[in-house]
Amino acid sequence: MSIIAGHKITKNLIENISFPSNEVMLDLKDLKKVYPTPKGDYVVLEHLNLQIRKEEFVTIIGHSGCGKTTMLSMIAGLNPISDGSISVLGKPIKGPGPDRGVIFQSPSLMPWMTSLQNVLLGVNQVFPHATKAQRKDIAKYYLQKVGLEDAFHKKASELSQGMQQRVGIARAFAIKPKVLLLDEPFGMLDSLTRGELQDILIEIWNKEKITAVMITHDVDEAIFLADRVVMMTSGPKAKIGDILDINFDRPRTRKSVLEHDDYYTYRKHLIDFLEH
Ligand SMILES: Nc1ncnc2c1ncn2[C@@H]1O[C@H](COP(=O)(O)OP(=O)(O)O)[C@@H](O)[C@H]1O
Ligand SMILES: [Mg+2]
Repeated sequence: MSIIAGHKITKNLIENISFPSNEVMLDLKDLKKVYPTPKGDYVVLEHLNLQIRKEEFVTIIGHSGCGKTTMLSMIAGLNPISDGSISVLGKPIKGPGPDRGVIFQSPSLMPWMTSLQNVLLGVNQVFPHATKAQRKDIAKYYLQKVGLEDAFHKKASELSQGMQQRVGIARAFAIKPKVLLLDEPFGMLDSLTRGELQDILIEIWNKEKITAVMITHDVDEAIFLADRVVMMTSGPKAKIGDILDINFDRPRTRKSVLEHDDYYTYRKHLIDFLEH
């Protein structure tokens, strides 16, 4: 059971961990976020450093309110940076862009539009030079990938929560981002639907070779999906507290992961971190 010793990275090392620049997709450097409040400035994040490699799947865990959504929305370019920088492939971000797709906990679809129209909204913006037929093909391809081939023309308001989240996933992949950012996307779903959507997510992620950063409060989900689980310290002034490498082969099945000798060691490591 030396795995914890083997994979535990001390806080000091995390500050220094870096990969060759040609391997890095996302680079968060000395990131800081301050929210002004009536009682004065609230420093949510400070000295947050994190590099994420191309094609990596990283999950983020941390206590509620520590600043996970803040960090993700900053990477998305939807929330201004107070200090430090975020780069995608070495270029500092300057707001939202089609290189980064986002999936939130609730998919915020246009309720009066069909699944297809909702996915097309993004596709039309990102591929203005494609023909109408080509754009439709892209949207349909991803809707079919998430199992919605029979629901192209159903209005979003008529879909179950699980189906709406499937549209959200299709919409995010259809714009062909380099990075997919997911904020507790399956948090509101029942466990069966959650499992199905995890499998779909991994399948498309693997095929499209994109980089994924996903916040989750579910330790098992964090392990099952990730190459690395990033643990955030509690706020204020939250930063990266620890990182755990998950060395399971891919493709993974739930059964193979649960039966693996290291599974409970990983799990204990994460739970010990959260309980501290
Ligand atoms: N727009 C805002 N203005 C002021 N405080 C905010 C704002 N958004 C989030 N916060 C505060 O910042 C902290 C981190 O929030 P958030 O990033 O949503 O945490 P998490 O996603 O980890 O639960 C919380 O204390 C929250 O109340
Ligand atoms: Mg959040």
